[in-house]
Amino acid sequence: MAAICHLLGVPREDEPRFRHWADATVEAFDPTTGTFEERQRGPMARGDLLNTGALLLVAGHETTVNLIANGLLTLLRHPDVLERLRHEPDLSIPLVEELLRYEPTVHMLTGRSALADIDLAGTTIPQGSPLALVLAAGSRDPHRFPDPDRFDPDRADNVHLGFGNGIHYCFGAPPARSEAQVALSAPARRLVNPRLATDPPPYRPNPTLRGPRHLMIEFDAIAP
Ligand code: HEM
Repeated sequence: MAAICHLLGVPREDEPRFRHWADATVEAFDPTTGTFEERQRGPMARGDLLNTGALLLVAGHETTVNLIANGLLTLLRHPDVLERLRHEPDLSIPLVEELLRYEPTVHMLTGRSALADIDLAGTTIPQGSPLALVLAAGSRDPHRFPDPDRFDPDRADNVHLGFGNGIHYCFGAPPARSEAQVALSAPARRLVNPRLATDPPPYRPNPTLRGPRHLMIEFDAIAP
């Protein structure tokens, strides 16, 4: 597992969690537990099953880890919002939506192409052109979001592109939302005087999935 984590670039400190999820994934494919056979009786072929398992592990891991790290970073840069979250747990719901808009983990989607000529803002994208959809820029479109570079959890009508759009809209959006709401509320409530040790933190060199490599935080104590 350590070697695989190294190969995949999983930081050392994430290994125990990664191992746990990998174990759970592998267990689902264990013929002796019956789960795999049960699943194989379903409509999916073995290759599809394994690929889907791997897809969920990856699509659901890195994205959510980055959302939590981006979220904590943004909260520590906006101490007024952090202070509100301490006393208003329900703020976590619009807060996570604003994070998905303002500091998203999936910055762009590549691998698309135009199925027909598309007229957009005075330009024609010819049929067959490769496309990169920059979701992060769309979520800061000034025609759609007033004062788009301002972090504002009270923003009305916050229909962002953080989970994509259309037929491929993120399959894991509901658990990802809940995880981030819980994972950001707990440190807001319990860390006494939290602050960033370095700002900005070092980033992973990935133009698609954006997030800090580490987020070093100092605090005075942990409240019960
Ligand atoms: C903060 C966390 C997450 C973010 C920001 C995120 C973002 C996205 C985005 C932008 C897409 C659209 C991709 C496209 O159009 O090509 C997508 C698709 C997808 N996501 Fe997520 N995701 C997150 C968490 C998860 C989790 C937890 C799971 C699994 C439990 C998951 C499973 C998937 C799957 C299977 C798709 C493909 C859906 C399809 O093609 O029909 N995601 N996600």
